[in-house]
Amino acid sequence: MHNRKRWLVIFGTRPEAIKMAPLVKLMESHTEIDFRVCVTAQHRGLLDQVLSFYQITPHYDLDLMQANQNLNEFSARLFNAINEVYCKWEPDLVFVHGDTTTSMICAIAAFNLQIKIAHIEAGLRTLDLKSPFPEEMNRQVTARMADFHFAPTEKATKNLINEGIHLAKILLVGNTVIDSLLLTIEKIKTGYENDEIIKIKKTIDSNLPFILVTGHRRENFGDGFLNICNSLKEITKQNKVQIIYPVHLNPNVQKTVMAILGDVDNVHLIAPVSYPTFVWLMQGSKFIITDSGGVQEEAPVLGKPIIVLRNTSERPEVIEAGAAVLVGTNGEAILEEANRLLQDELYFFKRAVTISPYGNGDAANKIVDYLLEMNP
Ligand code: UD1
Ligand code: UDP
Repeated sequence: MHNRKRWLVIFGTRPEAIKMAPLVKLMESHTEIDFRVCVTAQHRGLLDQVLSFYQITPHYDLDLMQANQNLNEFSARLFNAINEVYCKWEPDLVFVHGDTTTSMICAIAAFNLQIKIAHIEAGLRTLDLKSPFPEEMNRQVTARMADFHFAPTEKATKNLINEGIHLAKILLVGNTVIDSLLLTIEKIKTGYENDEIIKIKKTIDSNLPFILVTGHRRENFGDGFLNICNSLKEITKQNKVQIIYPVHLNPNVQKTVMAILGDVDNVHLIAPVSYPTFVWLMQGSKFIITDSGGVQEEAPVLGKPIIVLRNTSERPEVIEAGAAVLVGTNGEAILEEANRLLQDELYFFKRAVTISPYGNGDAANKIVDYLLEMNP
């Protein structure tokens, strides 16, 4: 029997953690895999919520987050810290996810040391380097260096081929976010409850529907967030509806959201919630207003229409299916779309399609099986 190679799974932000957790859990169940988990902690609190839910204790915790961090300073700290981990543990293969600064920097550092790279959630593209910013560039840069591209969809696969990446390096597997979502839905079905859910139940009016809102994109800071918040306020004025908004910890988001929505009737601003609580909130919502990538992948599985606070999306599948509509940060467009969903039943029904373009929950299995076979 040949020696098993050493794998290192790296992540740092909330969405990466949610999407890498199924892979880590699977690796834990394969005693023959020699692997380590390294978190950069690009996010601290939001990451820890996921680690705690999935009961993952990282082997390396770089603990790099700083308040209102500058991406260049964060990158510089990360280059040094991840280099140390690579030199100490000498992995043969590193796993990075998607489009964050954590992924892109750890991929470059691996490339420089000639360590192989597995890119999870590869191939999504807007081809607009300013949107999402800087994520579109991060994802493209990582693709240039990866040895294995795990693509969630046909379109993502084609995007990679169009960029000259050889088909043999690409595997269409779906998105591990669906693995995570389905696992969590099963958990909720068993009667799962936690303090956050109990508190939310006490806070909201159970006779009024609610819209779930999230937002954090850097390209929306400033006027974009002002418009979003003002239109959310107007939605609750014009309709009998509540808004539940777990506000991202980024200070640039907190500042505007608290100032405009802090004291508005029927708007419940809450701290970011753990993953099972968020899934429970998605399930209970009428629809979702968001600029998040992951939420666009999850909501259609639950049949929840989405209003997307972006001008572009690297997830065209949900838009084509009618589950999502792009409105950018135009206040009038947000209000108009929300009013339509709240006031036109037929329109709502058309938008509430249940689809799962990002897989069936077996992406992590496909990735691990493939790599066990290849033993890179
Ligand atoms: C990052 C990712 C983005 C991802 C998002 C998920 C990049 C360039 N962007 O966005 O792709 O969609 O995370 O949320 O990598 N903060 C805390 N505690 C936390 C998390 C954040 O206090 O647990 C605050 C800190 O002040 C931190 C700031 O938020 O400095 C911004 O964090 P950062 O990792 O830079 O997030 P984003 O660029 O917003
Ligand atoms: N999410 C969560 N708690 C929250 C808000 C979101 O667990 O309070 C989950 C959500 O279900 C999705 C992921 O976080 O899986 C999305 O993260 P985020 O919006 O921060 O990043 P993006 O997906 O835009 O990269």
